[in-house]
Amino acid sequence: MNNVIKLANRPEGKPQLNDFKFSEEERPEPKEGEILLEAKYISVDPYLRGRMRDVESYIAPFELNEPMESTVVAEVIESNNTNFDKGEFVFGMLKWKELQTSTGNGLNKVDPEQAPLSAYLGILGLTGLTAYISLDKIANLKSGETLLVSGASGAVGSTVGQIGKIKGCRVVGIAGSDEKLSLMKDKFGFDEGINYKSTENMQEAVAKACPDGVDVYYDNVGGEILDAALNNINKNGRVINCGAISLYNEKETPQGPRHEGILVKKTVLMQGFLVRDHAKEFGPAIQQLAQWLQEGKITYEETVVEGFKNIPQAFLDLFEGKNKGKMVVKI
Ligand SMILES: NC(=O)c1ccc[n+]([C@@H]2O[C@H](COP(=O)([O-])OP(=O)(O)OC[C@H]3O[C@@H](n4cnc5c(N)ncnc54)[C@H](OP(=O)(O)O)[C@@H]3O)[C@@H](O)[C@H]2O)c1
Repeated sequence: MNNVIKLANRPEGKPQLNDFKFSEEERPEPKEGEILLEAKYISVDPYLRGRMRDVESYIAPFELNEPMESTVVAEVIESNNTNFDKGEFVFGMLKWKELQTSTGNGLNKVDPEQAPLSAYLGILGLTGLTAYISLDKIANLKSGETLLVSGASGAVGSTVGQIGKIKGCRVVGIAGSDEKLSLMKDKFGFDEGINYKSTENMQEAVAKACPDGVDVYYDNVGGEILDAALNNINKNGRVINCGAISLYNEKETPQGPRHEGILVKKTVLMQGFLVRDHAKEFGPAIQQLAQWLQEGKITYEETVVEGFKNIPQAFLDLFEGKNKGKMVVKI
């Protein structure tokens, strides 16, 4: 039999374990032209929360009582497709199933000799690509500028900060614990950190940590942290809206301060970004990230949860900040 995880309910507010349903199905058999895949590492990501809602977005919502999906690294364990050999590894958008068949469309082969398999879900996968391509397209980082990053010890944020250091910036990170601040400074080379959970006045804390103001703010969290960053933004500052995790479980979007005045007076560029719009640039971006990794110019952290049955809990833990670096589930 084959284990599958489905969406049981559309959560209101914070998702719970009972919003997911475990079920069993017959072991799938690959038809002519298909391969049989065994999941090895499954990515859990904050954006999946949006897909649990039945609203129009840039990606279709999950269907109720149907399998969830995310990026997965899998091994080809049977092949009826001449493009794939048994024993090869692939990654792509796949269902939360231990075993599944595929035509191979949309899957990319990965080389376990080049990097550990889980890295293709993080630093050499969509979160590394998000950091690299968004900075390249929008940030226009210049040496000596101050780059402020929120969600700074996570998968995207830790990569953003390290690229900022490569570009010669002063990098300040915002994260949810002192342990995460130490990780940012000691492992990723950030210059300064702010623990937003133990800070009463974020606007003052950002001003103190960024005495020359903020030239580029990389926003992974939105909400009040975005407000504090904008209140410290410099003339011609750039703001990259990558994500807004602080709002993902809100039942109604909270009313915040209006930012038009700051944007006009400081001639700020504020731009949203979706990595999926840049598939054509993935190849060269992965090459650059892999080279930096090999040269020791960047590194990464992972939180690896073991076991298929723990996928939902690993996903829920993202909203409690239980991960450092990329959260992945090893099957
Ligand atoms: N636009 C795109 O194409 C794209 C692609 C990938 C990811 N993203 C977005 O990028 C952001 C980071 O994603 P990721 O995969 O790298 O996740 P991550 O940062 O590795 O994990 C999520 C982190 O968010 C922080 N967090 C949770 N609730 C929070 C809250 N209420 N306020 C502030 N921080 C909170 C937690 O760290 P703390 O302990 O610091 O709270 C947690 O560890 C997300 O918003 C995601 O949706 C966007």
